[in-house]
Amino acid sequence: MKGIQKITILGAGTIGMSWAALFLATGREVCVYDPAPDIQERLTQFIEQAQTALKALGWQHAGKTDKLTFNSDPSEAALGADFIQESIPERLSLKHSLYQAIEPNLGEHTIVATSTSGLKLSELQQGFNDPSKLILAHPFNPPHLIPLVELMINERTNKSHLMIAQAFYLSIGKQTVRLNKEVPGHIANRLQASLWRECIYLLKEGVASLEDIDKAVAHGPGLRWATMGPSSLFHLGGGDKGIAGFCEHIGPPMQTWWDDLGDAKFDQETVQLLVDGMREITDKRPTPVLKEKRDALIVSFLQDLKRLEG
Ligand SMILES: NC(=O)c1ccc[n+]([C@@H]2O[C@H](COP(=O)([O-])OP(=O)(O)OC[C@H]3O[C@@H](n4cnc5c(N)ncnc54)[C@H](O)[C@@H]3O)[C@@H](O)[C@H]2O)c1
Repeated sequence: MKGIQKITILGAGTIGMSWAALFLATGREVCVYDPAPDIQERLTQFIEQAQTALKALGWQHAGKTDKLTFNSDPSEAALGADFIQESIPERLSLKHSLYQAIEPNLGEHTIVATSTSGLKLSELQQGFNDPSKLILAHPFNPPHLIPLVELMINERTNKSHLMIAQAFYLSIGKQTVRLNKEVPGHIANRLQASLWRECIYLLKEGVASLEDIDKAVAHGPGLRWATMGPSSLFHLGGGDKGIAGFCEHIGPPMQTWWDDLGDAKFDQETVQLLVDGMREITDKRPTPVLKEKRDALIVSFLQDLKRLEG
C-alpha cells in the first residue's frame, strides 16, 4: 500500500517501539516523538534486536534506520505525516494534551490511530476539535510480531479513514477485527482476562500448580486456539452436525462448568501466589529464555501460516 509512507510514532515505549520497528521494516519513513531522554538509544537497540524476527517474516528493510528520525516537538513530528500511531501512557488527560498539540499540524488526509488498551474512543475524541481523524487501533504486544489489531470508529469518525487504516494494517501483515460498540478491554483483552481469572481461581483453590495450569493452556486449547478460535474448533468437534451437534453433546456438561467458574481479585495473597508460582517456572527457564522461546515459536507459526494461506 503506497498511500501511507510517512508515519509518526507518538510515544515509543513497549508498544510504540515495536510499531516503529515494524513500520521501518516495511520501508516506511518513521518520525518519533517521545520525551524520554534515552529514547534514541533504546529504540535503535530494540530495532536491532527485532530485526532477526522481522527478516524471518519477510520484511527486507528490517533493522534499517536510514528512514528513522526523531523530533522533540510533537506538533513538528506530526507535520506531513500520512499516518500517526499514538502509544503514549494510558492517561486520558495526557492523550488529550497531545492531541491538542498536534491537531493544528495534521494534514487533510492524516489518520491518527490510538493504541489504547482501555480508554474509550468517545472520551479520547474530546481531545480534538475535529475528531474525524481519530480511529482506535489496539495492537497485541508485541505488535511487530502479533498480527491482531482491533479497530473501532463511531459516528464522529470519517469512515474512509477506517477503510484506509484497515488496508494499511493488512498490507503489513496484520489481522484486523472490528468492534461495533464500545466495551472496556475491547474483545481480546476481555477474553484473556476471563481465562486468566479461572487460572488464578484454580491456583488459589489448589487444583494445580501455576506451571501445570500454564502447561494445560499452552499444550492443549492454546495450541488449537491459535489456528482458528474456539467456536470454529468446537464446530469441528461436533461431527456431522457441526456446532449444533457440539452444543447438543457437550452443552449440558459445559453449562455445569460455567456455573462453577470462579472469581479472582488482585489482593496481596493472590499476587504472592502468582509471584511464587512464576519463580518455580523461571528457576527452570529464566525469563530471557522464556521470551526467546515465545518469539521464536510465534515467528515459526506465522511463517507456516503464510505458507499455508499464501
Ligand atoms: N503494554 C501493552 O501490553 C499494551 C498492549 C496494547 C496497547 N497498549 C497501549 O499502548 C499505549 C502505550 O503503552 P506502553 O505499554 O507502550 O507504555 P510505556 O509506558 O511502555 O510507553 C509509553 C511511552 O510514552 C512516552 N511518553 C510519556 N509521555 C509522553 C507524551 N506526552 N508524549 C509522547 N510520549 C510520551 C514514555 O516516555 C514512554 O516511552 C497505552 O495506551 C496502552 O494502553 C499497551
